Amino acid sequence: MSEPKTIKDQFGRVHNYLRISLTERCNLRCTYCMPEEGIQLSEKSEVLTHEEIIYLAKEFVGLGVNKIRLTGGEPLVKKNIEKIIRELTALPIQLGITTNGILLDKYIDLLKECGVKDLNISLDTLDKDKFIEMTRRDYFDRVMSNIYRCVLEGFNVKINAVLIKGQNDNEIADFIEFTKTNKVAFRFIEFMPFDGNQWDNSKVVSLAEIIKTVEGSFGSDSIIKLEDKQNDTTKSYRIKGYEGSFGVISTVTNPFCDSCNRIRLTANGRIKNCLFSATETNLLNPLRKGEDIAPHIVKAVYPKKKSRGGMSSDEDFFDKEKNTKNRAMISIGG
Ligand code: 5AD
Ligand code: SF4
Repeated sequence: MSEPKTIKDQFGRVHNYLRISLTERCNLRCTYCMPEEGIQLSEKSEVLTHEEIIYLAKEFVGLGVNKIRLTGGEPLVKKNIEKIIRELTALPIQLGITTNGILLDKYIDLLKECGVKDLNISLDTLDKDKFIEMTRRDYFDRVMSNIYRCVLEGFNVKINAVLIKGQNDNEIADFIEFTKTNKVAFRFIEFMPFDGNQWDNSKVVSLAEIIKTVEGSFGSDSIIKLEDKQNDTTKSYRIKGYEGSFGVISTVTNPFCDSCNRIRLTANGRIKNCLFSATETNLLNPLRKGEDIAPHIVKAVYPKKKSRGGMSSDEDFFDKEKNTKNRAMISIGG
């Protein structure tokens, strides 16, 4: 019997997790994600259609992918999102969605029907005015009510907050207090550099600083370290007696590239073998020419760099010349 097919890179890391960015469009304008001047959207004809997305997903599944996450921009603004969710959940995979939460109320029934359980919802503040400032849009109440509703409905809800010094780092204790009665995993994400997002190392709130703040507010005896699974990007904790948990995604100060199992497919059909890769592989052209896609996928992942798209040292990672050779986050999808 031949060995089952897998997608391995030059370091032997097996890639079984695909993140598909369905669209570059978004109904928010988060400052750390979307450059102020906006981005040049891909030509409509260059964006993968619903049929192409399903076709490619099946190619990845044939190569051992068993976990898919839909991202954006905002995935729920994608035309045909309902069909995409239905057809993807018919594959032998676990499907998750990363969303800003605005449109969730429209899709709760569909998600339940299709067995989608994992929802990662972005929320950077618990303060309505600050929400408007950070996202440049007024949707706070709708997002909050959708979060409460999804928790009540039994979804596995993770909340993602990008911490930016001087903006929302004063809310760390409030975020954690939110997990007292709400069964969510609150995840703090270290602010990462992308094209046009005004990143500066001095704006990063590090894992170490976050833990120090939590210890200051809740006392070190109340913090329980939870077990992290092999490919987890999050270091997880719980405050004793709290319903929910919290965690930190420390790409900047403690990268977790050694256990990386993720491949990204952009809305215009490019493979990014790393969130920070400066190069991409075009799948759209070969797909439309009717070529066999699997070899292109395998070839795209093999040369993946060991860490952060080759910016392993902090010196490289903090270098504006190097860290902006990427796309804007809005067109990668996290
Ligand atoms: N640094 C860290 N996380 C980011 N996200 C978007 N831009 C950045 C950034 N510069 C996160 C969002 C969302 C996910 C898709 O990516 O918070 O949760
Ligand atoms: Fe939209 Fe998410 Fe980017 Fe905010 S972070 S602009 S919600 S894609």
